[in-house]
Amino acid sequence: MRARQSRPSVARVYSYVLGGRDNYGVDKDLGDYFIEDLPGSELLAVTNRHAVLRAARIMAEAGIHQFIDMGCGLPASENVHEVVRQVVPDAHVVYVDDDPFVVAHGRALLAVDERIAVVQADIRDPGSIEKHDDVQRLINFDEPVGILFAVTLSFVNDEEDPTGVVQYWTDRMPSGSHVYISHFRTGTTREAVATSNKILEAFGRGRFRDDAEIIACFGTLTLDEDGLRPCARWRPAPSEAEGPKPELTVWEELVVGGLARKP
Ligand SMILES: C[S@@+](CC[C@H](N)C(=O)[O-])C[C@H]1O[C@@H](n2cnc3c(N)ncnc32)[C@H](O)[C@@H]1O
Repeated sequence: MRARQSRPSVARVYSYVLGGRDNYGVDKDLGDYFIEDLPGSELLAVTNRHAVLRAARIMAEAGIHQFIDMGCGLPASENVHEVVRQVVPDAHVVYVDDDPFVVAHGRALLAVDERIAVVQADIRDPGSIEKHDDVQRLINFDEPVGILFAVTLSFVNDEEDPTGVVQYWTDRMPSGSHVYISHFRTGTTREAVATSNKILEAFGRGRFRDDAEIIACFGTLTLDEDGLRPCARWRPAPSEAEGPKPELTVWEELVVGGLARKP
């Protein structure tokens, strides 16, 4: 029998839309709203997820061997440590999430050896993450680090200072470190308004930002030459890059990503 839960969680709804099975009825109801009432909206999750994994791989190919995934979400069919370890077999990965459900599932499925940890913490309190024993043990801030904020800053309100959250890490990381940010982007279409309203209503937080606001989240870091662009168009894999590009759907326009390197 399905356990009961009164409120949906961001992580479980996102996972459900991506085809995951770890959810409650209340998550499924909201996921079904997106899938059925806003057909195509699952592309928001899908294109974001593909881009996060591409970003992680690009960081590993640039020589980074230690990663922090801020707001990692539930284990998915492919995860950051699996992608980066194809390039750097002994990469260290710290997954961070404030949702105890995510942390429990992550510890069971992601933390496959002592070089991976799943930390329960709030990304809005970066000091607590930096001080955490697992971060101290696995991340050496004298060497380049790769930090991923994949759509998580979309759940940080303006007064909670998303730029300050990123800047905290920028100030601690050495030259050659990378930060990837993806974020829900504002739009004026019916779909954009319905999606952002529903997310805010369901989770009590969730902020779509315009390009200038998202670029501001990078703080003193400078975006690479690709800049900020829809995740569906951000560094597509060679097979995806071949042939004429179809127009993006309204959904694909609503999630953008960018990568910055600390010079
Ligand atoms: C939509 S999921 C994205 C998962 C993954 N980053 C990805 O892009 O595929 C957002 C995740 O961020 C987590 N999250 C939201 N706010 C957070 C916070 N303040 N601190 C830590 N985790 C947070 C949620 O619990 C959820 O697991």
